[in-house]
Amino acid sequence: MIVVERREDAERMLAREIADLVRASGRVVLGIATGRTPAGVYRELARLRKEEEVDFRRVEAFLLDEYLDLATGDARSFLAWTRERVLDPLGIPAAQARCPENGEEYERAIRDAGGLDLQILGIGRNGHVAFNEPGSRRDSRTRVVELHPWTREDASETFGGIDRVPRRAITMGIETILEAKRLRVLAFGAAKAQVVAQAFERPIGPEVPATFVREHPDLEVWLDREAASELFRTSPG
Ligand code: PGA
Repeated sequence: MIVVERREDAERMLAREIADLVRASGRVVLGIATGRTPAGVYRELARLRKEEEVDFRRVEAFLLDEYLDLATGDARSFLAWTRERVLDPLGIPAAQARCPENGEEYERAIRDAGGLDLQILGIGRNGHVAFNEPGSRRDSRTRVVELHPWTREDASETFGGIDRVPRRAITMGIETILEAKRLRVLAFGAAKAQVVAQAFERPIGPEVPATFVREHPDLEVWLDREAASELFRTSPG
């Protein structure tokens, strides 16, 4: 677990790791997280593309999750977000990005690509990873899920009110995520402090799906000071 002074330090170091992988092998299968948490990593990768001429054209991108019941091309979809913040700035051809539509097909596509080389992951306030909401099992795979009220609340600004947030989504499962060769978890800000403490101190189990990341053999967790502030506090006396 690495606690940094400023989130930009984590973004820079994770982007450096990804760029090094891409430089070394060209074809990297990257698991894409969307949203506020990882955005800075993609910005940093775009900077490396420009300033160091890292060539991302052979990267294959697999999205962690996607809302259901949105019109194709909806600007609020994670695929639209990924186009704008990842594919276009990095020069990854759109045809090399996949987003889950059918669970079995998606699992097969990941396997056929040789598996995920590196998965970027955030943690939701309720302990979810991707859209594996509380109650998700260790052996879950890509599937359709109902979104938790907190998840919908956190998305309400984007959709202009909680009632407009989709109720269903499709997400990689816990097992799918744990099969990535490298797992890189990010959490920033005071709003994540409590869930970070739960994720790394509570017994591993479905109540807090983020606890399962601790079972990954090649895990790095990047936190800023605020997100780490509730960790390892021993109660007085
Ligand atoms: P956030 O969400 O990036 O909007 O904080 C993280 C998550 O829900 O995985």
